[in-house]
Amino acid sequence: MNSTRRLDHMRVMVTGGAGYIGAHTSRLLADRGDYVLVVDDLVTGSADRIPGIPVVSFNLANGSSARLESLMREHRIDAVIHFAAQKQVGESVEKPAWYYEQNVGSVAQLLMAMQQAEVHKLVFSSSAAVYGEASGTITEDAVARPINPYGATKLAAEQLISASALSWPLRAASLRYFNVGGAGRPELGDTQTLNLIPICFEQIAAHKSPLIFGNDYDTVDGTCVRDYVHVSDVADAHLAVLDALPDEPGNEVLNIGTGVGTSVREMVDAILAVSGSDLIAEVRERRRGDPAAVVGAVDRMKELTGWSATMSVADIVESAWESRQYFAALAQRS
Ligand SMILES: NC(=O)c1ccc[n+]([C@@H]2O[C@H](COP(=O)([O-])OP(=O)(O)OC[C@H]3O[C@@H](n4cnc5c(N)ncnc54)[C@H](O)[C@@H]3O)[C@@H](O)[C@H]2O)c1
Repeated sequence: MNSTRRLDHMRVMVTGGAGYIGAHTSRLLADRGDYVLVVDDLVTGSADRIPGIPVVSFNLANGSSARLESLMREHRIDAVIHFAAQKQVGESVEKPAWYYEQNVGSVAQLLMAMQQAEVHKLVFSSSAAVYGEASGTITEDAVARPINPYGATKLAAEQLISASALSWPLRAASLRYFNVGGAGRPELGDTQTLNLIPICFEQIAAHKSPLIFGNDYDTVDGTCVRDYVHVSDVADAHLAVLDALPDEPGNEVLNIGTGVGTSVREMVDAILAVSGSDLIAEVRERRRGDPAAVVGAVDRMKELTGWSATMSVADIVESAWESRQYFAALAQRS
């Protein structure tokens, strides 16, 4: 990859651009003068997150390639960032076929449209879930062995992108995000309760102790260690990658994290402190399949694009808390 910044404004289709990470990224692109067209079924996303950015609303998973192709031609799209996906691990275990249809089907439709419309740049939202039970500081060369259908759909989509780059001049990158949190603005926070931070906030709001699963791991304080990265940093990473896609066809696989681990205990303490709660975390048995430590090696991303995360765990927790307060006030008013 070359790390020189691009000279011209781009015209970017952002699928899932009304969602949590997609809205942060769409706004960043629009702020720097790029043209943004969002395609989103608005099931978990909301057009309110991206005022002034055009949104076309449909589901990508089935039979959408002709419609995508004509949008790409009509809007003279240069590049695609593909966020649209289902992301609930538990649900993926319940409905594996539907997860493949949604997450891999969408990528297939998109790639057919891109090939036809001769759009050759793609940035894809993958996930550290592809690494499965790998533990420690994980490089992109680690064996990818997902342990749930959600992670498997991300790996299958990466493979489909790599195969496409062998058959036509596709210049792609698959970004494996670690634990994304925080909010760039209160109204852009994650409204789904799927990760440690929102789950703890929900417990605290219900006057229940936040739960820690296992305190006998081989880590600093015995609780699991994870790599938390601020959503604004993640959004910025997409712009850096888009600007630095190599000239040759291929699929660059890149970890998006901080390279620094934070224990669940440290995170829960920070969450309790920011919320002013005097509750005490409760320790439960380990959960099956939880690796001791999962931290992203981030050198490849830095080397290829110059990007590295700038925001701290405190920034993540504080901005997530402000966002939660914002949505709580909004719910009270309505
Ligand atoms: N949030 C995280 O911690 C995290 C971590 C790793 C990977 N990811 C990946 O990042 C991407 C974005 O995640 P997010 O947290 O912003 O999720 P999100 O649910 O907030 O955003 C996804 C958006 O895509 C839309 N969408 C979903 N499926 C669609 C489809 N088939 N057709 C059209 N629109 C569709 C939704 O309505 C939503 O607006 C996903 O691919 C997710 O798997 C997220």
